[in-house]
Amino acid sequence: MILLDGKKTSQEIRDEIKEEVSKLVESGKKRPHLAAVLVGANGASITYVNAKIRDCEEVGFDSSLVKLPDTVTEEELIEKIDELNKNDEVDGFIVQLPLPRHINEKKIIEAIDPNKDVDGFHPTNVGRMALNLPGFVPATPKGMLELIKRYNIETNGKHCVVVGRSHIVGSPISILMAKNAYPGNCTVTLTHSRTTNFKEICKSADILIVALGKPEYIKKEMVKKGAVIIDVGITRVPDSSKKSGYRIVGDVDFDKVKDKVSFITPVPGGVGPMTRAALMQNTLLATKVW
Ligand code: GUN
Repeated sequence: MILLDGKKTSQEIRDEIKEEVSKLVESGKKRPHLAAVLVGANGASITYVNAKIRDCEEVGFDSSLVKLPDTVTEEELIEKIDELNKNDEVDGFIVQLPLPRHINEKKIIEAIDPNKDVDGFHPTNVGRMALNLPGFVPATPKGMLELIKRYNIETNGKHCVVVGRSHIVGSPISILMAKNAYPGNCTVTLTHSRTTNFKEICKSADILIVALGKPEYIKKEMVKKGAVIIDVGITRVPDSSKKSGYRIVGDVDFDKVKDKVSFITPVPGGVGPMTRAALMQNTLLATKVW
């Protein structure tokens, strides 16, 4: 078994970006600038956004954090987005999700200028991705592809099973793994809550991508010997043996599954850091014209 080390690979990517930023600055260009909009005080969102800002510092990007109270109205949030759309200093920005319930997420995403939408959530970028046109690919799928590429994993003609059909992970990765490219050229099965024969389908996967949000749901008997396992899940489960009182686990029963497969991502340290690195890649891309 080979561990797909997202921590190490994401460091390589950040080093490459840092190098490119140095060259940009040396040639008289401005530093890429990522802005992040954070609404309210969701603990996980604060952690994620702070990590993104730290990554910007490491690679030499400028960054700004726009904090808004959870009482902000939809109109006020859209006004802020318009400002960022028009601000030439800002190359790309994200609106951290989830948003408070009184705000329509779809409307907010559609207010973002597609050319600054480094999350790749705007319908224009989703369409570009589906049509294989240049555009922003969402960070988690993009990070997974990068991991597959950098470990030279064969994808041509393989059966790729994706578990979960979210707009952020499952749907886009199922499109990307089917396209005529490397990584890609897979026969893709997208499974979800209404799928029948779920276990049999999982067991037939050469590449199993799990983005379900159910800790350790995928058991040893559900995976094929020699499969490639990419685990997007990240859940805190109570663990009294830890000082923090919890441990972080993925959607795959890692300890039991690991010796049966050819490649597997650890949790933490697999897909998570790759997602963050892919956002930095998208921000760098935002400084260029398609
Ligand atoms: N919430 C969870 N994942 C993401 C992400 O990739 N981007 C944004 N904006 N919010 C998220």
